[in-house]
Amino acid sequence: MAALPGELKYIQYEHSLESVYLPAIRALISKDLSEPYSIYVYRYFLYQWGHLCYMALNPSDSSLVGVIICKLEAHASHSPPTMRGYIAMLAVSATYRGHGVATALVKKAIDAMTHRNADEVVLETEETNIPAMRLYERLGFLRSKKLHRYYLNGNSAYRLVLLLKQIDPDAATDLSLDEVDTGPS
Ligand SMILES: CC(C)(COP(=O)(O)OP(=O)(O)OC[C@H]1O[C@@H](n2cnc3c(N)ncnc32)[C@H](O)[C@@H]1OP(=O)(O)O)[C@@H](O)C(=O)NCCC(=O)NCCS
Repeated sequence: MAALPGELKYIQYEHSLESVYLPAIRALISKDLSEPYSIYVYRYFLYQWGHLCYMALNPSDSSLVGVIICKLEAHASHSPPTMRGYIAMLAVSATYRGHGVATALVKKAIDAMTHRNADEVVLETEETNIPAMRLYERLGFLRSKKLHRYYLNGNSAYRLVLLLKQIDPDAATDLSLDEVDTGPS
């Protein structure tokens, strides 16, 4: 683990940055995945919800240190439907972990989703991913469901949820998987 190279720059993703940053985003995220995503999965999120995706950049050369990719959609499992934020991917370069970079990225994403009227934010993470579980639980996420053998490698996941507004539990059906889930985050 190295010291941070000065104060990182946190910027929102935008389409004009694709050619500069998409290869680095894919490389950073796929490093820790057992099943790499296709380019279309990245574009699915970044084309529609680039405003909910943030990057942490090294101030000296603007290289990518961390990234979070999210979406926000109406979700019909409650009546009336809730606005559900979803954290699809989060990764920080191994060299710079343990300095609060992921915490800052998650907080920025939550703020952006709150600003757009999200009722809740959900995600799945591998039950063995202790750093991720600690990070999210420290930020107030709760375990809503265990997803047995969720990943192709046979590992189970937890679905975590952060309630941003009071949701009537009697109006809720199951917190089922998003229709367009992409597996690990
Ligand atoms: C999970 C992951 C994103 C965490 O990134 P990170 O930048 O190291 O996370 P943070 O630094 O915000 O938090 C990690 C620890 O550093 C501590 N920390 C926070 N700010 C700090 C600071 N300024 N100085 C020192 N330590 C700090 C936190 O308290 C936290 O400790 P914890 O063990 O009590 O949770 C990273 O390990 C990663 O990329 N893993 C691979 C991909 C992955 O698993 N993604 C998540 C899938 S859901």
